[in-house]
Amino acid sequence: MLRSLFTAAALAIAGMPPLPAQELAATPPMGWNSWNHFEAKIDDKTVREIADAMVSSGMRDAGYVYVNIDDTWEGERDAQGNILANSKFPDMKALADYVHGKGLKIGIYSSPGPKTCAEYEGSYKHEEQDARTYAAWGIDYLKYDWCSASKVYLRSDMPKIYKLMADALKATGRPIVYSLCQYGMDKVWEWGARSGGNLWRTTGDIEDKWKSMESIGFKQNGLEKYAGPGHWNDPDMLEVGNGGMTATEYRAHLSLWSLLAAPLLAGNDLRSMPSETAGILTNREVVAIDQDALGKQGYRVAQEGANEVWAKPLAGGEWAIGLFNRGPETAKVTVRWKDFGLSGKHRVRDLWAHHDRGNQKDQFWYEVPSHGVVLLRVK
Ligand code: GLA
Repeated sequence: MLRSLFTAAALAIAGMPPLPAQELAATPPMGWNSWNHFEAKIDDKTVREIADAMVSSGMRDAGYVYVNIDDTWEGERDAQGNILANSKFPDMKALADYVHGKGLKIGIYSSPGPKTCAEYEGSYKHEEQDARTYAAWGIDYLKYDWCSASKVYLRSDMPKIYKLMADALKATGRPIVYSLCQYGMDKVWEWGARSGGNLWRTTGDIEDKWKSMESIGFKQNGLEKYAGPGHWNDPDMLEVGNGGMTATEYRAHLSLWSLLAAPLLAGNDLRSMPSETAGILTNREVVAIDQDALGKQGYRVAQEGANEVWAKPLAGGEWAIGLFNRGPETAKVTVRWKDFGLSGKHRVRDLWAHHDRGNQKDQFWYEVPSHGVVLLRVK
């Protein structure tokens, strides 16, 4: 509270409007989203089964609470202009009740344009009405995807158009996390929070490939000053468990997203998740880095060829450190305390091996497999 008052005061002095007060998304949102695995093959039955699996797999108890339906749920509008779901979703309110009954929250998707990216009905000229419908259904999260809005609005209108839906959501009185999706155009990180966003995509769509994941993830360096409690950079949803990367690469993916304080939205089929995948996603020591109360996004502190050291300041003066090897062979990656402004001895814990690695002084190295990570917590 004090901190946000201070930020508001500092911004007011700088002549900028203060950031809107935010109670939602104090830490980066965690949950699941249908798009990466199911795309258009998502329906009421599958969402219910996913909600069941969120509980039985331990995902919910590890912190993943939002069950987010992405594009292709939308039907026509009725005579009064109310948005209806299509035949895949016979009763949205009943589905939301089911998901809530599991101790989970539910999210939905729309576009400020006339059509969504998959050509379904968007919210153009129906913003307040749609927000009211979502609230009446019991929706807790909206992803709002630019798509066809480029046909009806000027690009320079974007901050205003995103704010329109933020205000409509707020007017419902229901707390609804607001996710901006416009692929990082026009430096959205500079205005996304002022448009009411709790998170905003910083890039185009992720693919389930090392090349895609690494080029998105490592490109986030420099955006750290725009993230904080209530408003986060979103480098897109997780691909962990979708089959296009190795377990080593998926551990690097989750580690990097956690260092980035990124939203953690699993994108795999939780109903048939092998224990190795579940073990990666529900590693609580890793998730705790993402969810750290200080709410700082990490950044690169050192780079030598394909070796990179990333760091995230944590509450209580602790640090998370990621040693990454983007190269094709196993490599020794070196950490130097002076890069962190630290000196002397510090105790380090390996968050994937789940064991303490003792005290380290000045500089030290670990062997890191190709496309892998060693993720440490420094006390
Ligand atoms: C865009 C978004 C994706 C997904 C699809 C749905 O590509 O970036 O995350 O929501 O639309 O059509």
